[in-house]
Amino acid sequence: MTGTAAARISPETRTLFDRALDREPTPRRPLWINRQAGRYLPEYRKLRERYGFKELAGSAELAAEVTLQPIRRFPLDAAIIFADIMSPLPALGIEFDFAPGPVVAEPIRSAAAVDALPEADSKSVAPEVIEAIALVRRELPAHTALLGFCGAPWTLAAYLVEGRGVKDFPRLRAFAAEQPRALERLLERLSRLMAAYLIRQGQAGVSAIQVFDSWAGLLSRASWERLVRPHLESMLHAVGEAGISRILFVNNAPHLVEAYAGLPAEGLAVDWRIDLRALQERHGDRRAVQGNIDPAILTAGPEPTRAAAESLLDQVRARGHIVNLGHGVLPNTPVESVEALVQAVHREAQ
Ligand code: CP3
Repeated sequence: MTGTAAARISPETRTLFDRALDREPTPRRPLWINRQAGRYLPEYRKLRERYGFKELAGSAELAAEVTLQPIRRFPLDAAIIFADIMSPLPALGIEFDFAPGPVVAEPIRSAAAVDALPEADSKSVAPEVIEAIALVRRELPAHTALLGFCGAPWTLAAYLVEGRGVKDFPRLRAFAAEQPRALERLLERLSRLMAAYLIRQGQAGVSAIQVFDSWAGLLSRASWERLVRPHLESMLHAVGEAGISRILFVNNAPHLVEAYAGLPAEGLAVDWRIDLRALQERHGDRRAVQGNIDPAILTAGPEPTRAAAESLLDQVRARGHIVNLGHGVLPNTPVESVEALVQAVHREAQ
């Protein structure tokens, strides 16, 4: 890792990533990879032999180390702090485990359960993540951006009400129909907590945050507008007021992408189902776009990866485009495919 003072972040330094998110011209497009610290990396698997995921994410030092692993191996343009969307929820007294996805000890299935959630002091929200951000900041090269993140209120509510990730989240959708007021109160609580958490991440040293709405697509547009939108909007607004740049990631919700595009965020990230060029044509004058190679293509090896990357670079205008996958990198991805992706993106500068 570079340790010289000159290599460290100074407030004047604006990274390639930060400039692309502001839709400024850059010598090439920036690249980072959703879930870039993870099981496809031998060095991550090695640490996982000694520590459980909760131990890794629960220790600021270990989380900082894991955050830096992909940055040491590949010249990526952003690091994303190693944590989980569930990390801030202990502040609301929520207990959960991972098996391998989140499993909530006592799912929230009544108005009384929503109203019993304690008020959280913003300093008690995932202090280990805030500390890890400060540690990573000191080690990160000046040209590499640091991203924070959180789960969108709706995606967090999905795990809290359903109890775990199950196909189509039927209990969540039933709860939305039976207890819309209680769901709204839950989303409102999550929205306020996440805004406070993201603002603390900004104070600790991230220049931008990504909001993951992994389960965005479960509702009809009309239900989404009525129940979900106001809370997501107020959270994004509060974070923007604090001077932190925002990327909104919308997964598997082609029927909602136009609605999401109207929310206050500098960047819009989408999965591989969406035509990124068409999205850029519609919104590129106000939003950077991020994405969106199908992560499964990388598991097919370096050649298909290179072809997919070249086709994406060909189709999507460079200005205001941050290259990424359409969802998290898969555990069985060969490291050589990630290298091929990096090379394809870097070739643009030559
Ligand atoms: O690159 C990074 O450092 C990313 C860190 C990160 C994790 N989770 C670590 C993690 C991020 C950004 C997340 C976000 C997250 N977590 C989302 C949103 C993004 C998405 O994938 O849609 C969601 C829905 C979750 C919930 C979650 N946590 C699931 C579904 C799982 C299990 C399956 C899986 O995708 O890995 C987790 C556990 C988890 N979170 C792991 C990691 C590295 C796996 C733990 C391990 O076995 O090593």
